[in-house]
Amino acid sequence: MNRINPVVTPEEIARQQEFIREIATMPHRPKTYHIVTYGCQMNAHDSEKLAGMLDEMGMTPAPKREEADFVIFNTCCVRDNAERRALGNITWLKEVRKTRPELIIAVCGCMIQEPGMAERILKQYRFIDLAFGTSNLHRFPELLCMTLEKNEPVVEVDKEDVIPEGLPVSRLRPESAYLTVMYGCDNFCSYCIVPFVRGRERSREPGAILREAEQLLSSGVREIMLLGQNVNSYGKGLENPVSFAWLLGQLDRMSVPRIRFMTSHPKDLSDELIETMAGSAHILPQFHLPVQSGSNRILEKMNRRYTRERYIERVQSLRSAVPGIGLSTDIIVGFPGETEEDFGDTMDLVREIRYDSAFTFIYSPRVGTRAAYMPDQVPEDVSNRRIRELIALQEDLQRTTLGRFLGMEEEVLVEGISRRSGAEVSGKGKHGVSITLPGGPEDIGKIVPCRVKGLKNNTLTAERKEEK
Ligand code: 5AD
Ligand code: SF4
Repeated sequence: MNRINPVVTPEEIARQQEFIREIATMPHRPKTYHIVTYGCQMNAHDSEKLAGMLDEMGMTPAPKREEADFVIFNTCCVRDNAERRALGNITWLKEVRKTRPELIIAVCGCMIQEPGMAERILKQYRFIDLAFGTSNLHRFPELLCMTLEKNEPVVEVDKEDVIPEGLPVSRLRPESAYLTVMYGCDNFCSYCIVPFVRGRERSREPGAILREAEQLLSSGVREIMLLGQNVNSYGKGLENPVSFAWLLGQLDRMSVPRIRFMTSHPKDLSDELIETMAGSAHILPQFHLPVQSGSNRILEKMNRRYTRERYIERVQSLRSAVPGIGLSTDIIVGFPGETEEDFGDTMDLVREIRYDSAFTFIYSPRVGTRAAYMPDQVPEDVSNRRIRELIALQEDLQRTTLGRFLGMEEEVLVEGISRRSGAEVSGKGKHGVSITLPGGPEDIGKIVPCRVKGLKNNTLTAERKEEK
């Protein structure tokens, strides 16, 4: 085992498999489960791993949380509202238990890793039966076994950063699979709690990643989404360090039909990665590149380690190497000390870059992060006004940026029936933009060639072409 990337040993995974088998034979075990997931794709994929273990324990998913014997909340703490929503819903379930005393409640994910949270759960939320952190996910079978045998809450929060290999996974969307390449983050952006709750950056061995990709391919996946808090710094600390671009090149050669990845940090966006994308057959022409702010002063306070100019240069390089590339971003407004001028710089940058989509957030102070203790916290009404202006600008610009797809050929990986009409399906095109087209349930999971013909309420509509 190497110290920087400590893999959970196969012996430990085998031990956990024993607990899975033990629970499967318990007469009083819960029969149905429901997982409530908050936050990012990492959490969504952790929930797929929990579901994999629960399925092997012989439990079946219940569509509604109030009908399940066992409910797990997989929480997020990146912003205060995610945390409040989770705590509200967990407390609501306590009421359900008054009529169904056999209900078991577990809470896991990033919120549990926050300093002091385990103690708070034991004091304030005594009705929670089981709580465990992101580092303890692979120990879930053992912890659940303890919960079922004991009459008091089980809480385990480890600070050791590990890489779990070999856990069963039950995928929610079998045609589009998440594949984690690295865990944690070392960047310590001053507003962000992730490095504190997800731990230090650690990369999976390329061999393990490529083997998982082979298995996914032979099970018929159409798309692999590579996951990591900072995917493009992948490869540090490996026995034989490699780059993220190298890894992408290997996957491209395996002919995975579609390859996507997120999230990238602008400071680690290398020329090698841009060249690999330009020369690849299967890496989709799309990029999620969080900018966070358009003001150099704020970027510095955020500890982002790039300037507005460098960011724009990276986008230009991407656009000239991969013409028409789909571009999305994350933006925070109301960071401590953000003036009207700083905010104006963000608005200008958005006008200059012209994103296909932008996820916009009001800054939320997180205990323990540097920004939470900075002077000049921006009043709520100012942040609210700024985010409204930013969203309005983005929506306005999006009409023109999305207009560039009109008449273009696209390929949509169909996700489901469209919410607008039962005779239409929707999914993402190669550029990462949502597209609606005529179709039915038989199309779900297929890649459908089409031609974009319209733009309705900032969503593209298309007509079908002959199928692949
Ligand atoms: N407040 C507001 N937004 C935040 N994000 C991360 N931390 C915070 C915070 N404290 C946003 C960033 C990041 C996205 C996942 O969440 O924009 O890219
Ligand atoms: Fe948070 Fe910054 Fe790491 Fe992203 S790169 S997870 S924003 S610390």
